[in-house]
Amino acid sequence: MAPASARAAQAQPQQPSADRRLSTLVGHLLPSSPRRTAADTSATTLESFPTMASQGSSVFAALAQAPEDPILGVTVAYNKDPSPVKVNLGVGAYRTEEGKPLVLNVVRRAEQMLINNPSRVKEYLPITGLAEFNKLSAKLIFGADSPAIQENRVTTVQCLSGTGSLRVGGEFLARHYHERTIYIPQPTWGNHPKVFTLSGLTVRSYRYYDPATRGLDFKGLLEDLSSAPLGSIVLLHACAHNPTGVDPTIDQWEQIRQLMRSKSLLPFFDSAYQGFASGSLDKDAQSVRMFVADGGELLMAQSYAKNMGLYGERVGALSIVCGSADVAVRVESQLKLVIRPMYSNPPLHGPSIVATILKDSEMFNEWTLELKAMADRIISMRQQLFDALKSRGTPGDWSHIIKQIGMFTFTGLNSDQVAFMRQEYHIYMTSDGRISMAGLSTRTVPHLADAIHAAVTQLK
Ligand SMILES: Cc1ncc(COP(=O)(O)O)c(C=O)c1O
Repeated sequence: MAPASARAAQAQPQQPSADRRLSTLVGHLLPSSPRRTAADTSATTLESFPTMASQGSSVFAALAQAPEDPILGVTVAYNKDPSPVKVNLGVGAYRTEEGKPLVLNVVRRAEQMLINNPSRVKEYLPITGLAEFNKLSAKLIFGADSPAIQENRVTTVQCLSGTGSLRVGGEFLARHYHERTIYIPQPTWGNHPKVFTLSGLTVRSYRYYDPATRGLDFKGLLEDLSSAPLGSIVLLHACAHNPTGVDPTIDQWEQIRQLMRSKSLLPFFDSAYQGFASGSLDKDAQSVRMFVADGGELLMAQSYAKNMGLYGERVGALSIVCGSADVAVRVESQLKLVIRPMYSNPPLHGPSIVATILKDSEMFNEWTLELKAMADRIISMRQQLFDALKSRGTPGDWSHIIKQIGMFTFTGLNSDQVAFMRQEYHIYMTSDGRISMAGLSTRTVPHLADAIHAAVTQLK
């Protein structure tokens, strides 16, 4: 059997038609192209260049309008709505009680320190990013005393937030891992299937959420993972599952771990909400640490978008926990080959902020307090919404609102009810009924409760 890398090379999608289209385009554009004869060139007028042709015509004229992203499109629609009572619960970003984006105080301080440091330059980072940031990120998720870190079995590369980390990990697996199928929970974050398919993996799903109980379909999950082919990759949300807000208990995690290890299923953790679920960074990393403690291998995609509020800075890390230090070195060398042609090397500012905060115990403590305050506000929004629905006598059991954790609540509202609430109450959410608790405030809870009450009583 050919080595995995050779098989991967064979399996790389060939794009002859794309290449042909490109060289045809170049042929059209360049008068000196060998494809054009002298007679052609002498007859060339400005109008014969498609890009310079009369106004309105385009080489892209046949292009269809692409649909809006189902999640980001909610904000596009919200921005167009002139209503003064509109509420955006689609966006996965924290908002203050006043509905404003929040820049953490500790982040502002770190930025000030970076700006005031005259020795800082703007040179390129290495392909793998800021080394200090990578070390601190691995420590944050795996724990300072993690045996995998102490044994140098972890390789970490800075990536473009959580999405970029998933993409780099996905492409690495498609090239170098023997099994190309990744199992993702049903439902999951809408970008997962696209990221992994474009990485070159085959995406399948495992049962996760039970609409009847609005909780975990644990039996379905175990059945589906039991019947996955040996060695398959399994995507796991480390905590605060998006979109359902439903996480396994620690006992359930332990059963999942045993099953996965017994079938050599490779865990690929997605940690986009460490600290956001419970307010504790360590508690939210428990699931991951259980898998590292057994000595097995795994991938970990980390994002600082939510827990440090660094959304637009695109700061994240991909760590691969390997069986030995020697393998970790070779894995890193191959990760560089994935990253280099994709974006060369990652940005400097975001990881510098993160490293400044993580390495200073006083700033780290300030961060944990600010993080806890965000998590607590979200938890309080859950309670307020639950109380408001109870006080209105809204039909149904709404206890899942306080049981689910993290940024999102999977309300159980159907797409007709979601459309009704948008039209009648100017409340925006994704069509699957997911609402961002971080977008709610004490002022907007009554409006949302009125809307939910009307939706469930008028549209069954
Ligand atoms: C489950 C999950 N994974 C990954 C991400 C990636 O986020 P980012 O690329 O902004 O870090 C998100 C963002 O919403 C998410 O919910």
